[in-house]
Amino acid sequence: MATMNFKHFAEDIDAIMARDPAARSRLEVALTYPGFHALLWHRVSSALWRSNWRVLARFVSQAARVLTGIEIHPGATIGRRLFIDHGMGVVIGETAEIGDDVTLYQDITLGGISPSVNSAAQVNKKRHPTLRDRVIVGAGAQVLGGITVGEGAKIGANAVVVTDVPAGALAVGIPAKVSAPRSQQAQSDFAAYGLPAGAVPDPVARAIEGLMDQVSRLQARVGMLEGELNGATNGTPHGDVTGARPASEATKVSVETQSGQVDRPESRL
Ligand SMILES: CC(C)(COP(=O)(O)OP(=O)(O)OC[C@H]1O[C@@H](n2cnc3c(N)ncnc32)[C@H](O)[C@@H]1OP(=O)(O)O)[C@@H](O)C(=O)NCCC(=O)NCCS
Repeated sequence: MATMNFKHFAEDIDAIMARDPAARSRLEVALTYPGFHALLWHRVSSALWRSNWRVLARFVSQAARVLTGIEIHPGATIGRRLFIDHGMGVVIGETAEIGDDVTLYQDITLGGISPSVNSAAQVNKKRHPTLRDRVIVGAGAQVLGGITVGEGAKIGANAVVVTDVPAGALAVGIPAKVSAPRSQQAQSDFAAYGLPAGAVPDPVARAIEGLMDQVSRLQARVGMLEGELNGATNGTPHGDVTGARPASEATKVSVETQSGQVDRPESRL
């Protein structure tokens, strides 16, 4: 929970250093990172809000928005080491809750689904999302409603998320589709920009890389099947899997297709 506790500043700066490859020094972070400045302002506005200085709290929050481009409602609950990278256009609603070590990029909304419809009934009701610890939200994502994004989940850039996201899962698209949870390792390691280290960012290059992997696997499997076939034609149950065959004979081997159909060697020999 946000407090007027200024001892957290050092860990806020260290968290930014750890999560932004572009951050060169603590001084640079302290002077030039709007996400860091927005956190400082939020601690002030939150304290005022909780002391029932509501208008002053809103005023401080709006002044911070002018200075940083980041709007955090003073009523929002923010955990430790939040990093809002770039931050311009970020809006965090009144009943939003953010856990520890969360990373947000620019142009993100943690908002209500329909704040303008039946507004009176929504006052003091939970209507903004909860992001648990270590969630990463990509640039442009809109996370709407009183939903929960589980620990270590990743929201893709430009996704629109309107349903709960399980811990460690990936949610991408509009409306966001949730895919299988990542491994424990992937959940615990922070990846700058939400991409694992060493990943190829170009989608075409990634597709080619995937195809190359598949070709390698198929080559290995064809080699193994050729070996088995050699063994069968020699009268032994299992042939030498390393036995090479001329390329022209490769079409005779049994090949299991991706759809699961098997082209039987007997029918072709
Ligand atoms: C969502 C994200 C974190 C996923 O990273 P990841 O764990 O490496 O996941 P992958 O790249 O393996 O992608 C998994 C699938 O989601 C798709 N995908 C990834 N990001 C997507 C997005 N934003 N929108 C739509 N689909 C997306 C991939 O194409 C892939 O689809 P496939 O399984 O059909 O091939 C990352 O793509 C992302 O959007 N990061 C935000 C980065 C950002 O905001 N940067 C701003 C810096 S200023």
